[in-house]
This record gives sequence, structure tokens and C-alpha cells, in this order.
Amino acid sequence: MTGQRTRENAPPSERRVTAPPGRRACEVIESRKAGGYRIFSALDPSGPQPSAGQFYMLAAADGWGQRDGRPYLPRAFSVAGASAAEGGTRLDFLVEDVGPGTERLAGLRAAEQLWVTGPLGRTFSTPGQLAPAAPGAILVGGGIGIAPLAILRRQLGERGIPVRILLGFRDRAHSGGVDELFDCSEVRLASEDGHVGHRGYVTDLLGVLLEGDEAPTAAVYACGPPGMLEAVRAMCARGGIVAELAMEAPMACGFGACFGCAVPLAGGGFMRLCVDGPVVNAAEIDTALVAGSGH
Ligand SMILES: Cc1cc2nc3c(=O)[nH]c(=O)nc-3n(C[C@H](O)[C@H](O)[C@H](O)COP(=O)(O)OP(=O)(O)OC[C@H]3O[C@@H](n4cnc5c(N)ncnc54)[C@H](O)[C@@H]3O)c2cc1C
Ligand code: FES
Repeated sequence: MTGQRTRENAPPSERRVTAPPGRRACEVIESRKAGGYRIFSALDPSGPQPSAGQFYMLAAADGWGQRDGRPYLPRAFSVAGASAAEGGTRLDFLVEDVGPGTERLAGLRAAEQLWVTGPLGRTFSTPGQLAPAAPGAILVGGGIGIAPLAILRRQLGERGIPVRILLGFRDRAHSGGVDELFDCSEVRLASEDGHVGHRGYVTDLLGVLLEGDEAPTAAVYACGPPGMLEAVRAMCARGGIVAELAMEAPMACGFGACFGCAVPLAGGGFMRLCVDGPVVNAAEIDTALVAGSGH
């Protein structure tokens, strides 16, 4: 039907797969070590397939609140992979143990129950939606921020969109998931301690790529620590290159009720990152250095 609104041609703020109401129990089907991180997977019996950039609020059914009552609230997690499986949708998450919630989630084992709410938030756009002349994508990931780029790479690949991937890590202990989540892809790596790839920042690799002739026609997609995101935002702003950033902020509810995730907008005012993000057009913000984000 002419003029019909689909998720693809909807304005960015409406581009999302909508979550069913309430939380639902999912069975953990796998948990494995991935370098300094872990990947755990759960079978979602009734939720929809998420889109790249979306996240879930997660809580273990047992042992939540084990450390002096913490963690109390569920924790926000980007979905790193989603695929149809017998009995539902397999959801993959990459976790770094940084506190009581992530410690418990990293400790989940097969057959345990996980409370899941989602998928939540706004998805990544395609390069063509960001700029009509952008034929391909450059993905820039740092640390645990490689998670949403893994599912983005798959979803862009399914549409035949060319993708270049740059991933960076602080050191060996703060790295992992590349082989498991970016299999069969050409990935350029950087590490600050030099244990893999270029010794330095992933933004060094981006700088080289953006000097190339094709750079102005690429769309950049980034997720990582605030300092990295801010460097990507500034580089793209200087080069006039379209970019989307998957950002983090402290999230208590995940669906717009608590205002804990407010992020200042370039034109004044605030967005709630859980409903207006977590994927943000880099032109919407003056800085990616958000108070309370990053660890
Ligand atoms: C949209 C979104 C997607 C995320 N995806 C992932 C993911 O795929 N994998 C993953 O391991 N983590 C992810 N995170 C971060 C994760 O939610 C936090 O690390 C987690 O909530 C920390 O909980 P905790 O109880 O383990 O530690 P806490 O004791 O609550 O926090 C430990 C440290 O982490 C910092 N922190 C807490 N919450 C956040 C937050 N939301 N963002 C940044 N720093 C925080 C705190 O300031 C503290 O320094 C995501 C966060 C958001 C908002
Ligand atoms: S996390 Fe509650 S409003 Fe965003």
C-alpha cells in the first residue's frame, strides 16, 4: 500500500520493536567464557526478535539481592545476538562483571531462570536512512560496547550492506567476545596494552579510515566507554560524517518512568535514554560524556 508506514521508513524515534508488557521468565541455555567477559544465552518463549541497538532489563530469578540486598533492580543489557530457536528466540548477551548485578548474571548457568523485559529502546538506522549517499557502515566498538555492534553487523549483512569493523580493548582482562560474536568477519583490532592488534585506541584506526576517499560517504556506528564515544562524536562532527552512538546511562526502570537516564540534548532540554535512545544520532548531543555512565 502506498504511503504505508513501516519500521524502516518511520522517523528514528519510532524505529523500535515493541516489547510485550511485563517481564517474562526465560531459561538460560548456555553460558561460556569469552576472554575476560562471559556470553550467556536465554530462550525467550514469547518475545519478538529484537532489532540491533535495543536492550533488555535482566534479573536472575534466584540469588538476586544476595549481597546486602543488592542488586535490587534489574540491569540493562544490549542484545548481542538473536536467532530463531526451537521454542522461541535465542538471545545472546555479553557481560562484564563490574558489580553485584553483573556478577550474578555472569554466574548464570544452563537451566537457571532469568527475568527478561524487552526489547526496549530505539534501534540503529541503516546507512541509507542516516544519509542517502551512505552505502556502507563503519562499526566502532570499545570493550563491552562491542555487544550491540555484533547484532548490527549481522542485520546489516543480511541486507547486503558493506560493513567495516573496528574494535578496541583496554587490556587482556577487559576484552573478549570477538571470535564468538564476530565470526567470519574482517575485524581490525586495537588494544591499549598492545596484547592484540594496533597498540593504542580504536579511534586511531577510525582516524586512518576517515582519511580515505570513501570516508565522507560512510555512516559510523559506535558503542563503548564515554571517552571513546565522545572522541568518535567529535571526529565525525569535524568530518561532517553521519554517526549513531549507542550510549549508556544509569537505568532504574528502562521504560521512561524514573527519569534516571536523562541525557542533555544539543538544542537544550533532555532525552530519556531508555525510550529516546539508547541509540542516539550524534548530532543530537553536544557531548557523549554523560554523568554517571561508564565504569
Ligand atoms: C542500554 C544499556 C546497555 C548495556 N549493555 C551492557 C552489556 O551488553 N553488557 C554489560 O556488561 N553491561 C551493559 N550495560 C551496563 C550494565 O547495565 C551495568 O554495568 C550494570 O547495570 C552494573 O550493575 P552492577 O550491579 O553489576 O554494578 P553496580 O554496582 O550497579 O555498578 C558498578 C559500576 O558500574 C557503573 N554503572 C552502573 N550502571 C551503569 C550503566 N548503566 N552504565 C554505565 N555504568 C554503569 C557504576 O557507576 C559503578 O561504577 C548496559 C547499560 C545500558 C544502560
Ligand atoms: S531508566 Fe527510567 S526513565 Fe529511563
